[in-house]
Amino acid sequence: LILLLLILSLFCCCCYVVSLKHQQTTLLITSRLQQCYQQLSPEERRLLDSITWPETPRLPVPISLNTTSDPAHSTFTILPVRAGGQWHVGDELEALIQIGNFQGRPKHFGGDLVIARLHDPELLAGVAGRVVDHLNGSYTAVFPLLWEGQAQVEVTLVHSSEAITVLRRLTMEQPARVYFKSLFRSGFVSETTVCDVCLPPTQPLCNYTDLHTGEPWFCYKPKNLRCDTRINHYKGGFMQNLMAKEDTLFQSGVNMKVSIRASGSNNVTVLPKKQEVKSSTVKPEPAGYYYQGAWRALGGATVHQFNNASAISQCLTDKVVHLCGDSTIRQWFEHLSTVLPDLKGFNLHSSKQCGPFMAVDTARNILVKFHCHASPIRSYAVSSVNLSYIANELDRLVGGSNTVVVIGIWSHFSTFPIEVYIRRLQSIRRAVLRLLDRAADTLVVIRTGNLKALTLDETLTNSDWYSLQRDKVLRDMFKGLKNVHLVDAWDMVLAHHLPHNLHPQAPIIKNMIDVLLSYICPPKNG
Ligand SMILES: *[C@@H]1O[C@H](CO)[C@@H](O)[C@H](O)[C@H]1NC(C)=O
Ligand SMILES: *[C@@H]1O[C@H](CO)[C@@H](O)[C@H](O)[C@H]1NC(C)=O
Ligand SMILES: *[C@@H]1O[C@H](CO)[C@@H](O)[C@H](O)[C@H]1NC(C)=O
Ligand SMILES: *[C@@H]1O[C@H](CO)[C@@H](O)[C@H](O)[C@H]1NC(C)=O
Ligand SMILES: *[C@@H]1O[C@H](CO)[C@@H](O)[C@H](O)[C@H]1NC(C)=O
Ligand SMILES: *[C@@H]1O[C@H](CO)[C@@H](O)[C@H](O)[C@H]1NC(C)=O
Repeated sequence: LILLLLILSLFCCCCYVVSLKHQQTTLLITSRLQQCYQQLSPEERRLLDSITWPETPRLPVPISLNTTSDPAHSTFTILPVRAGGQWHVGDELEALIQIGNFQGRPKHFGGDLVIARLHDPELLAGVAGRVVDHLNGSYTAVFPLLWEGQAQVEVTLVHSSEAITVLRRLTMEQPARVYFKSLFRSGFVSETTVCDVCLPPTQPLCNYTDLHTGEPWFCYKPKNLRCDTRINHYKGGFMQNLMAKEDTLFQSGVNMKVSIRASGSNNVTVLPKKQEVKSSTVKPEPAGYYYQGAWRALGGATVHQFNNASAISQCLTDKVVHLCGDSTIRQWFEHLSTVLPDLKGFNLHSSKQCGPFMAVDTARNILVKFHCHASPIRSYAVSSVNLSYIANELDRLVGGSNTVVVIGIWSHFSTFPIEVYIRRLQSIRRAVLRLLDRAADTLVVIRTGNLKALTLDETLTNSDWYSLQRDKVLRDMFKGLKNVHLVDAWDMVLAHHLPHNLHPQAPIIKNMIDVLLSYICPPKNG
């Protein structure tokens, strides 16, 4: 027994030394990352300005929830109809939200992440609300009224402003909290080292900066192997380094993604559109809304229902669909493979998470491919020969009216300074522009980010707050490009009655695929 204990304690000691060493490495990486992103271009500066979040409070010392935002002490009130009388389709509904703290007192500053939707469970209808922060503890949620009948307001506190103080600090201080590794091997010798977008040169480095796109990536050089013996890439792990009690700011059911109740009624009855009301106003509209479970786009486009395999196959006939990105795009490959019995996948013996995957329907000349984006993909081991930047993939396409490119890249960038994501998108946008220059009739579709279920660890690596900022940058980056369309996953998840999920459930995916297919096969007469 004593021997066993001795062995165990030795083992634990080793673990401790290893994790301590790792901590030092990640701290170094952190300061290095900051050096790497000092010089900003005017576009980068403008994007950073456009996602500025209000100041958030310092944390109380010692940490106590007392003065922090408490959804249970917060309420919303539907504001009465302005013109008096009744709600009509075409009107806007406003709800005033007042955040209170755990001691029941109203808060006097902003910066909480609050989301809202208007919905009706009977009609399977829902629309995302726009939330305005008044910076004094109150917020307004604004909803367009789009359907007749009942509509109820749902308001959710995603994070308190104090939680955002912590998330913000983590980006500054611990951008390497998710870390990466590569295996190197030659003959019988193998070694594993740490890799990242930028590493402090405390030891010799292998420089894998992509010569074509300029995307930086480095690994520490293995002691006994050359840099060209790199075999794979994988997520090394995640280090959670919160200060004492900070985790109390991220409690599901207490102060993270919790509904706020109505003071008074939470619902209204909406009457038909008034005759005198002209066409819709030019206020910023949501991308669309659900009605009877089906997504209807606002702002011109029409979404069709592709409810059976033959309708989908007919639309995809003679097309090559390139799906590139993270697992939220892989879901689309999986969905198409499931609903189209004639679309046969090859077994390429590739990695389950990263692909590459390929499926064909030879009779209809349909080819669907999936390829994951390169580093910093947080995957199990993916062969380094199969790690390919989206921009480089696009540069290999001829393009044309038979080519559809779908890009979804967002959730693996949350832990880095936003500059890493901005630069990746800039390099993808340059490739998209080159592709559209070569073949203007190529269709390019961008899937935005979406809300997800949040646990503590999920939050620290991938909070909706991180996603929201990246999502704004993504939209800005591809705004106004002809033949580049969005699938607004953010609004489609927020407006739906199913729970938020990194990988939205099948009914939501079905609606996203309907939007995609409606871009590929627009209605003949409009
Ligand atoms: C929090 O509030 C409770 C009750 O109001 C009080 O007993 C406690 O001392 C407060 N904690 C701190 C750290 O202020
Ligand atoms: C907060 O600001 C809004 C907008 O300026 C205002 O309507 C509201 O009355 C303010 N609330 C408080 C509690 O001061
Ligand atoms: C890595 O390689 C790129 C491209 O060759 C080069 O521009 C960059 O300076 C190198 N970085 C380091 C730290 O060696
Ligand atoms: C609508 O509001 C009324 C008044 O507060 C309430 O009695 C009713 O239960 C609400 N209906 C729904 C569906 O929530
Ligand atoms: C498939 O859907 C299309 C379009 O909605 C419809 O016209 C067709 O009848 C459906 N086919 C089958 C086999 O259900
Ligand atoms: C790399 O990609 C090829 C197909 O291009 C596939 O056959 C192979 O299995 C992939 N390897 C890994 C480790 O994913």
